[in-house]
Amino acid sequence: LSMLKTPEQIAGIREAGKINTGILDAVAEQIKVGMSTDDINTIVYDYTISHNAIPACLNYEDFPKSVCTSVNDEICHGIPDSHVILKSGDIVNVDVTTIYKGYVGDASRMFMLGRVPQDKKDLVNVTKECLNRGMAAAKGWNRIGDIGAAITSFAHKHGYSVVRDFGGHGVGLAMHEEPFVCHVGKRNTGMLLVPGMVITIEPMINAGKEALYIDAANNWTVLTEDGKPSAQWEHTLLITEGEPEILTY
Ligand code: MF3
Ligand code: CO
Ligand code: CO
Repeated sequence: LSMLKTPEQIAGIREAGKINTGILDAVAEQIKVGMSTDDINTIVYDYTISHNAIPACLNYEDFPKSVCTSVNDEICHGIPDSHVILKSGDIVNVDVTTIYKGYVGDASRMFMLGRVPQDKKDLVNVTKECLNRGMAAAKGWNRIGDIGAAITSFAHKHGYSVVRDFGGHGVGLAMHEEPFVCHVGKRNTGMLLVPGMVITIEPMINAGKEALYIDAANNWTVLTEDGKPSAQWEHTLLITEGEPEILTY
């Protein structure tokens, strides 16, 4: 019951989600080859502050920046860096989490820089479809395992692997709440999805093997062990009696 949000809380999360979407739109307008990932951090920080919001990532468990920027073989939790310059052919995930009036929205998108090889484009597009299929499976009174099953079957059909050590989560009053939403799952297993829950779905799909490691230099950035690229898309969703409502459109 503690996972169910009140109508007032849902309205607040929707507001936070709108600002979060505005931030990602601002990144989409400005991101380009030659920019550093720290320039993305500046866009996110400035937009957030000027909208009276707080970047949830900044100082979260000692994370040093306002956004995660994960390039190519980085799966997630990439740290913006003035020395990491985006180049033609890169794919980058920009993961923004915003606190507004105490409510939290969380979403991420992939950006493709310059001339991107077809295999990386395919990975980005299939991963977006994985999110769409996961969301379609997240109907009220389905189970969490239905989300992972939908994502995994589509990813495997394309020869990709699905990260299971990191996943989606409840969100809204804090960045990370119960439940954990694994992107690998079995149909009709796991926790019930009850109308009023607010969760993220954020599949991380690897072009190669599932194995990963955490960068020992910063204890944050998650990378593929085989060095092949990884992609991710994320939305914050309200579970309803039917299809979920996307709160980060
Ligand atoms: N936005 C991430 C998520 O989707 C969490 C980032 S935590 C940070 O769950 F500290 F790395 F920012
Ligand atoms: Co996120
Ligand atoms: Co998230």
